[in-house]
Amino acid sequence: MPETEHHLTTSAAADHRTIIEPFKIKMVEPLAILTRHEREPILREAGGNLFLVAAKHVTFDFLTDSGTTAMSAAQWGAMLVADESYAGSRSFERFESAVRELTGYRHVIPTHQGRAAERILFSHLVKPGSKVPSNCHFDTTRANIEQLGGEAVDLVIAEGRDPASTHPFKGNIDLDRLEAFCATHRGQIPCGMLTITNNTGGGQPVSLENLRAAAVIYHRHGIPMILDACRFAENSYFVKLREPGMAHHGVQEIARMTFAEADGCLMSAKKDGLVNIGGFIALRESRWVDHLRNQLILTEGFPTYGGMAARDLEAIAVGLEEVLDEDYLDYRLAVSRYMAQGLNRSGIPTVQPAGGHAVYIDAKAFLPHIPPEQYPGQALVCELYLSEGIRSCEIGSVMFGREVDGRFAPASMELVRLAFPRRVYTQSHFDYILEGMQSLAARKASLRGLRMTYRPPFLPHFTARFEPV
Ligand code: F0G
Repeated sequence: MPETEHHLTTSAAADHRTIIEPFKIKMVEPLAILTRHEREPILREAGGNLFLVAAKHVTFDFLTDSGTTAMSAAQWGAMLVADESYAGSRSFERFESAVRELTGYRHVIPTHQGRAAERILFSHLVKPGSKVPSNCHFDTTRANIEQLGGEAVDLVIAEGRDPASTHPFKGNIDLDRLEAFCATHRGQIPCGMLTITNNTGGGQPVSLENLRAAAVIYHRHGIPMILDACRFAENSYFVKLREPGMAHHGVQEIARMTFAEADGCLMSAKKDGLVNIGGFIALRESRWVDHLRNQLILTEGFPTYGGMAARDLEAIAVGLEEVLDEDYLDYRLAVSRYMAQGLNRSGIPTVQPAGGHAVYIDAKAFLPHIPPEQYPGQALVCELYLSEGIRSCEIGSVMFGREVDGRFAPASMELVRLAFPRRVYTQSHFDYILEGMQSLAARKASLRGLRMTYRPPFLPHFTARFEPV
């Protein structure tokens, strides 16, 4: 993938434009290659909903970057020598020291994934009337706060809500609003958060400068700062590439500087832990720890495995080191940048700039002839499947549209997310897709909208059904 963002040459050769996949392949899985003719009845039977299509019928699965990583030989090797003892396992010691080494936080509580960490932490901190600010909360973070009667408040900068803005750190929190919020709600804020990178805002990074200023505000008001750190390595590499004065720092050093500003973190290891399952809470101080461990024992497991097998702990310990390899991160950020640039060249607009883990196509701008009540995002999701075998996810009026007084109220944006699994697809896959997208763009006027034939009472995107209009 050509390098365009920066002048650094972390790749081996300064005289090459192409950023190569920094791995060779030792184990392979066949790709399901179907024709459009074969996909048509599959999509019809699934009611136009890609969540209802079997993975064996998908060629390129871009539904999520979470838990879809290809693990390394070193990770699989570590899993074989794991110690599956119920208490005090050697694998836990390895996992704990990897997390301590990375974050500098002493107290490490394993959980089976990110939302379990959220539930355990918030069930201790959040009471009815509590408020938890962040740049943007991820859906499960918000839901865990709200089901305890708290309020999850998004304070991302205005540029973070503007798809066309090319601000380098669109994940930044609005510091003026944060200051005012903390002053107004004194005593009601059990903790403050920052999500790195900001998934809800398109995988956009937070600058170290912004993170430090947010920490100063939180701490001045006596509020601990907790990072939602599931894409900490991608965020750290964006800091290295884009933040003035940071290029000469190693990414591991930047990650340490990041964690050093906060009081703890929640982590879904299914992203930058480079594993298929797992997570943790890590905290600098001990004051919540006993309570959290007791909660952990109730629902996740003993504190030295917390809902995971010891082999999962081993895989995370190795993954947290591998993810900070700069050749890997160079390649990783090149994937979404390359895809966004390729799509844009074919006249397919995307949220700018490309995020770390995903590209968001602006379906409203791409398909202006399909009105929001005919779900232009979902229409594109269906066509991406039929023509390329891609599974993607609509983030628009299927997810957020509502009936208000008997009339359809559309979402503010009609986006389609292509989230890229880590170390899974190669450049020829992406080139193949981009070739197909060129012809898709050329015949976009022939795409038709959809009618929703079944709307479930909540979370419609998972089970809704559609028909072409
Ligand atoms: N926080 C962020 C920022 C996330 O993106 C996710 C998951 C979670 C927390 C929850 O972690 O899935 O391990 O329980 N994001 C996935 C996605 C599901 O597709 O964006 P989890």
